[in-house]
Amino acid sequence: MTIQEKYKLKGSLNISGDKSISHRSVIMAAMSIGETEIHNLLESKDILSTINILRKLGVKIKKINGLWIINGVGTCGFKQPTQKLDAGNSGTTSRLMLGAVATNPIHAIFLGDKSLSARPMSRVTNFLENIGAEIKLTKNNYLPISIQGTQDSLPLKHIITKPSAQIKSSIMLAALNISGQTSIEEKQATRDHTEIMFQYLGIKFKKKNYKNGKTQIIINGPKEIYAKDIHIASDPSSAAFFTVGALISPGSNIEIKNVCMNKTRIAYINILRKMGGNIIVKKVGKLSGETIGNIKVKYSKLKAVVINKKLAPYLIDEYPILAIAASQAKGVTKMKGLAELRYKESDRLKSIHENLVASKIDSSIKNDDLIIKGSSEQLIGNNKISTHHDHRIAMSFSILNLVCKKPLKIDNLKCIEISYPKFKQDLKSLLKND
Ligand code: S3P
Repeated sequence: MTIQEKYKLKGSLNISGDKSISHRSVIMAAMSIGETEIHNLLESKDILSTINILRKLGVKIKKINGLWIINGVGTCGFKQPTQKLDAGNSGTTSRLMLGAVATNPIHAIFLGDKSLSARPMSRVTNFLENIGAEIKLTKNNYLPISIQGTQDSLPLKHIITKPSAQIKSSIMLAALNISGQTSIEEKQATRDHTEIMFQYLGIKFKKKNYKNGKTQIIINGPKEIYAKDIHIASDPSSAAFFTVGALISPGSNIEIKNVCMNKTRIAYINILRKMGGNIIVKKVGKLSGETIGNIKVKYSKLKAVVINKKLAPYLIDEYPILAIAASQAKGVTKMKGLAELRYKESDRLKSIHENLVASKIDSSIKNDDLIIKGSSEQLIGNNKISTHHDHRIAMSFSILNLVCKKPLKIDNLKCIEISYPKFKQDLKSLLKND
């Protein structure tokens, strides 16, 4: 029996809650009036960072019988924290919480781990300064950040040129507590979980999607949020690891259930189908405003693809695992315009490329494009993988491991707890060696 036969994936799986929706659910529940029950919250390190910060801002949060119960303090009810607010490894925590705090009359200091402290923050704080928050950044761009929020914030028209759901969401949360009209224009649409949750919670706002990809959101504040229980759909970015795992491991046949099918998150399914992937999606309903569906995946012979730069915002978290698919596809895959990948938990463009090369896969970077030639022979493995403590690099190369003759030596698997603590358990449950 070859190693590949040993590592086929079979069976069905319910994976953990979506990371983006989980962050938004705890933040908006904290900003509500009343008590919110949250079902299927992702209990990963990033979400715990958001929860810990909210607790330091005076929000009562507890877990009872698997449900998270949050007693909201309203949109302007955060207490002056007595300790620094540690966002850990989480870009979403720091950027969304800076927005939520900016229109509360409190002073806070945000910090993060080594990786987060090297990621750009002025992309968010520039907007928050314009509305009136007093902000001091380290070296003009980084954490630790000191922020003095204000209740006398200005209703403004913001134009976001960098496609980032975190920037948009940060301003949207701030706008809940601003008197007057806040307008937010995006040059290119980004993931829209904040809008969907606003709608689900009954917060009135207007959104226009233009043909050229531009969007405009208008919020006439101030707004209150009235607590409503939230059910979180499973994470499509986590599902992507098993989807690719099944596509590249001969004999695989899996189903992943109740996955969030938000259009801004599942572009990777279309790309994998273009590569020849046998993937069937069945929409099965809605969870707190988000469409959910089941994904069936069978082993397929993959072929290379060219991925347009315009798709970058909709594939941003999936490039590492798409690179693994490309490494097993026939031909040369080109992923174009990956500049934003350099500002993630690690410089992901470099991390993907270096680890592919270490695994004897033909990979190159040209400007901001990643070019991967699929390997025609089974990989030997046994080489070191440097994760740079990046959870998505660790999970992606754990999937490449399935098709290697000898195991890869991944230097840090613990970092997977950032977004998917049950990854190993879930992967194990699908591994069959009949
Ligand atoms: C996220 C948005 C994305 C994504 C991140 C989560 C969010 O970042 O990479 O994992 O929850 O809004 P950007 O919007 O900054 O690209």
